[in-house]
Amino acid sequence: MTDTQDATYSGPERVFSGIQPTGNLHLGNYLGALKKFVDLQEEGWDCVYCVVDLHAITQPQDVWGGPALIASHTRQIASAYLAAGIDPKKSIVYAQSAVPAHVELAWIFNCVARMGWVERMTQFKDKAGKDAERASVGLFTYPVLQAADILAYKATHVPVGEDQKQHLELSRDIADRFNRDYDAPGFFPLPEPLIKGPGARIMSLKDGTKKMSKSDPSDLSRINLVDDADLISKKIKKAKTDVLGDMPSDTEGLEGRPEVENLVGIYSAITGDSVEAVLKQYGGQGFGVFKPALADAMVAHLAPITARYREILADPAEIDRVLADGAARADAIAAPIMHEVRELVGFWRA
Ligand code: TYM
Repeated sequence: MTDTQDATYSGPERVFSGIQPTGNLHLGNYLGALKKFVDLQEEGWDCVYCVVDLHAITQPQDVWGGPALIASHTRQIASAYLAAGIDPKKSIVYAQSAVPAHVELAWIFNCVARMGWVERMTQFKDKAGKDAERASVGLFTYPVLQAADILAYKATHVPVGEDQKQHLELSRDIADRFNRDYDAPGFFPLPEPLIKGPGARIMSLKDGTKKMSKSDPSDLSRINLVDDADLISKKIKKAKTDVLGDMPSDTEGLEGRPEVENLVGIYSAITGDSVEAVLKQYGGQGFGVFKPALADAMVAHLAPITARYREILADPAEIDRVLADGAARADAIAAPIMHEVRELVGFWRA
């Protein structure tokens, strides 16, 4: 147990995270989340990885694809998990809607969380845009469902990109408030976000101040996990840099150069070399040298994943078997926790 957790929580440590089945995964999802999922599994953690389809429907149908597409998007994300190296024998991989605990605990947490806490969530403001009145209630209360996702498994550690930091803080507040309101110290752990590293905040290739995102209208702003070598090279070649010229040779030289900092961060996250080492290697050289090296490193890392992804996706029956087995194992963890939650809340039971 780490010192930032509720000192009275003494249950086992567990990793939980999830990705929405809305469109293709991009390099930000991979470096900020998926790659860390695999690393944690390899470090021997008990890991639960969810495809969060209940979250996907908080936005309008044209965002998540509508009823005809959501199941196939769920299979796509599950395939990407497996292609990236998640082993369904070691980690649990499943679809959120297949395990009822998420929805039930989310309702209870809706009654624990306070309006003011949820109103502060900046992602709602970004996603709802100017017309917040027309956003779904689900989009507003989405971070409460996220807390339920994590705590239905009493997960202690949550690998995510930096954009999820505020949601994780809310999860901790909800866990703490539940423990106090129901006089159950240490019942829920206060989950700790795992955000560190250069992959935690991958920015658009066209604007170093905006995060790389599936919703950016320009495909040139992101690398998708399904992009082939030619497309990756083209996108890196066209990636925005600046007029200051060559690569800096130390981190101070990255100040005020968000696009260059982003490219160096991507190189570092892909290769595992530190940012300092990358700058030492390429400092003083032009982008004509660095960009092809970055594209090569990216292709070398991603091409085998993309190839495996296509192979796995071609066998939907096998993906469904993995997801069904994962849902049963996830339910076996969450159901007894929900039993305890119902007792604490005091619901009727014959
Ligand atoms: P989602 O589906 O938007 O993104 C999945 C993961 O990718 C990370 N990410 C990034 N990381 C670095 N740079 C970027 N440009 C970038 N873009 C996305 C996200 O931080 C995330 O880790 N609410 C979550 C899904 C969720 C969840 C959960 C996560 C639902 N329940 C419980 C953890 C625990 C989301 O919408 O992620």
